[in-house]
Amino acid sequence: MTEVLVTGGCGFIGTNLLRYILENRPDWEVVNLDQLTYAGNLENTDDLAKRYPARYSFVRGDITDAPFIDELIGRRRFDLVMNLAAESHVDRSIHGAGVFIRTNVQGVQVLLDAVLKHGVKRFLQVSTDEVYGSLGASGSFHEGLPLAPNSPYSASKAAADLLVRAYIHTHGLDAVITRCSNNYGPYQFPEKLIPLMVLNAIKGKELPVYGNGRNVRDWIYVEDHCRGIVTVAEKGVSGEAYNLGGGAEKENIEIVRTICRHLNRPETLIRFVKDRPGHDFRYAMDHSKITRDLGWSPRVDFDEGLAETIVWYLANETWWERILSGDYRNYYERMYADR
Ligand code: NAD
Ligand code: DAU
Repeated sequence: MTEVLVTGGCGFIGTNLLRYILENRPDWEVVNLDQLTYAGNLENTDDLAKRYPARYSFVRGDITDAPFIDELIGRRRFDLVMNLAAESHVDRSIHGAGVFIRTNVQGVQVLLDAVLKHGVKRFLQVSTDEVYGSLGASGSFHEGLPLAPNSPYSASKAAADLLVRAYIHTHGLDAVITRCSNNYGPYQFPEKLIPLMVLNAIKGKELPVYGNGRNVRDWIYVEDHCRGIVTVAEKGVSGEAYNLGGGAEKENIEIVRTICRHLNRPETLIRFVKDRPGHDFRYAMDHSKITRDLGWSPRVDFDEGLAETIVWYLANETWWERILSGDYRNYYERMYADR
């Protein structure tokens, strides 16, 4: 058995990653550590404990809590720690950077110290394309570029990447970094562009597009990202960072119009609203390194992935209604009240 700690497993990508691992790596045993912040939803992983009782378990905890992390990592003999726990929303980081520094920087330092002390074989940090900054109309990000983050969120992620680099260089830690572009798919928290627009459109509410809607993101279906994370964990060279992208560059306005068409809603719902401060214009990933060296490339076509994602949100109204009403946050208390 390969013993794995996944942090942030009750968030969007973590939930999809746990499912990918449990379905595709029968010899991996996974502990999911999550603090259950506003973005962590225990209901996302509820079925996993029932389906994989011997290979999956959940622990509630905070990656910045050094004694707790030291105890957990010291007690279990993990082969691999994959860190997805983070504050992930750019808009929130503009309104309050403190928790981003705490979780995304200090939390990574706490994990690195424990991994080093207890001899975990490999650490994988899930990072983002936003550490490279913003592109103009042409070109793409490659791993050799200097880090030039523009938002408090991306600055905190870049700081974490540099900490990982420092532990590799100074302590000889075995660690790898993945840097991925914008994900979409099932279980994404409805503060992010695609689920927010899908749910507003379903409800016939206004669709708030920042600025002129011409900003470009490079979209990847979440399962492609998860397969890439596992590929880097298994085959990546220690000390290396690997870009992942979906090869699907889209202007925001194009995505919102497509969602209107899918849901048969008029484009008159679209409202151009005040722009995000410091809004990065364009992201595009050059993922040739991971394709060449590790044999990974994205598989899901954007139009098909988006259609499937919209179908998922239509079919899972109870899931998102409980988030919109705030009910999902009481679930842990109910589930664990008498444990
Ligand atoms: P998310 O916000 O949906 O989930 C984050 C999870 O981390 C939640 O379950 C939350 O409860 C948990 N968490 C937060 N603070 C914690 C703490 N201190 N201790 C333990 N758990 C904590 O985020 P996501 O979109 O799933 O992103 C996951 C990772 O992938 C993040 O590191 C993010 O930077 C990175 N990433 C995201 C994208 C994207 O498009 N969403 C793209 C590239 C990289
Ligand atoms: O690129 C990877 C990053 O993608 C991840 O590291 C982040 O965790 C993730 O949140 C995401 O960041 P973005 O800022 O690109 O995602 P968001 O969904 O917030 O916004 C996508 C684009 O849509 C961006 O140009 C802003 C715009 N937008 C967003 C919202 C929420 C709108 O126009 N209206 C909106 O209401």
